[in-house]
Amino acid sequence: MTLVTRMIPETLLENWKEIKEPSAIHEADKCIVANDAFLELFRINRHNALADMFMAQFISPWPSYHLRLGVRQALGRRIDGKEFDIEVISLPFYSSTDGLFYQSIIRDISRIKLWEDKMLQSERLTAMGKLAGEIAHEINNPLGGILLYANLVKEDLTTEHPAAVNLDKIVRLATKCRIIAKGLLNFGRSSSRSYAPVDLNHVITDMFSLIEDHKLFSGIKTDFILEPELPHLMGDRGQLEQVIVNLLINAAEAVSGKGRIQVVTRSHGSRFPLELLVDDSGPGIGEDLKVKIFEPFFSTKQHRGGTGLGLSITHGIVQRHGGRIVVEESPLGGARFRISLPLDTSYATGT
Ligand SMILES: Nc1ncnc2c1ncn2[C@@H]1O[C@H](COP(=O)(O)OP(=O)(O)OP(=O)(O)O)[C@@H](O)[C@H]1O
Ligand SMILES: [Mg+2]
Repeated sequence: MTLVTRMIPETLLENWKEIKEPSAIHEADKCIVANDAFLELFRINRHNALADMFMAQFISPWPSYHLRLGVRQALGRRIDGKEFDIEVISLPFYSSTDGLFYQSIIRDISRIKLWEDKMLQSERLTAMGKLAGEIAHEINNPLGGILLYANLVKEDLTTEHPAAVNLDKIVRLATKCRIIAKGLLNFGRSSSRSYAPVDLNHVITDMFSLIEDHKLFSGIKTDFILEPELPHLMGDRGQLEQVIVNLLINAAEAVSGKGRIQVVTRSHGSRFPLELLVDDSGPGIGEDLKVKIFEPFFSTKQHRGGTGLGLSITHGIVQRHGGRIVVEESPLGGARFRISLPLDTSYATGT
C-alpha cells in the first residue's frame, strides 16, 4: 500500500483496508492511496509514490467535473500504455474535518468482454451462415438450369462450330458458380453427421486435376508431398473438396503467375493426427490481416471479384470436422495454411 501526505479519516481508511480488489482513495482526480492490487493491476512500481498520479491516467474516460458515482464501464490504462476493459465503482466519503474523498474499486473485465465479443462474433457468423445458405439455395436452381440448357445446345453443335468454344466457357463458369454455391450451402448448414471415410490425398489430386488447366495456375510450379498410406478421415468429401479448392486458388492468386505452391499431407500420433499444409511463395499475410482473413466477406481482392467467403467457408468446414486451421509464415516466403484434423469427428463442434 502506498501512502501519501493527505490525512484520510480513520473510519474510511479502516473500511477501505478490508477491500481486496484493486482500489484507491482519491480526491476528485488526485490519487491519495492505493492498495497493492491496484498497483499490480496498473503495473505501477511499488517504489513510486502516488503523489503525482491522477486517476485520469489510469481510467478513461475520467470526468473532469462531477465524478460519476456507482458502477460504470471504462478503459483501464496500465503504466506501460496497455489498455483493457474495466468496471469502476466509485463511492463518496465526506468528513466534516477533512472534506470530500472518493474510493474507487476497479474490476478487470477484459476476459468477460473478450468472451462477449466472441459470442457476438459467433452469433454474427451463424446469422451470416443462414443468409448465405438461403442465397446459395436460390442461386443453385437457376444455375442448374443454365448448365442443363447449355449442355443441351452443346449436344446439338459439332465441336468445330464457332460457338462451341464459348459454350464451353459458359459451362465451365457456371460450374464454378455451382461450386461456390455449394460451398455457401455447406457454410449455412449445421454439422452433417453423414460422414464417410475420405482419403485426403485423393481429394487433393482430384481437385487439382480439375483446376490445374485454369490460367491462374500457368507459370506456377506446384509440388505435392503426399504421405502414402495416409489414414482416411471420417468426413464430408464435398466439403473437403471445397477446402482444397479454396486454399489452392488463394495460393495461386497470391503467387500470381510466377512462383511456387507446395501441398503436404502427413500423419502423426496426436489428437489431430492428420495434417495438411498449403504453402506458397507469394507476398505472405501481414500480422494485421491474419486476424481478419477468416471473417466472412473480408477480401483484399474486391477489384477482381473476391467475395471474401473462401476462407470463412474453409474455416467453418474444418471446424465441422473437429479440426483447426491456422495461418503461418511459409518457408517458401509466402503464406502457409496449416490444417490439423482428427480422424473421426467426435471433436466436431457442429457450428
Ligand atoms: N495464400 C494467401 N496469401 C496471401 N493472402 C491470402 C492468401 N489466402 C488468403 N489471403 C488473404 O485473405 C483474404 C480472404 O481470403 P478469402 O479466400 O476468404 O477471400 P478472397 O480470396 O478474397 O475471395 P474469394 O475466395 O471469394 O475469391 C484474401 O482477400 C487475401 O487478402
Ligand atoms: Mg479466396
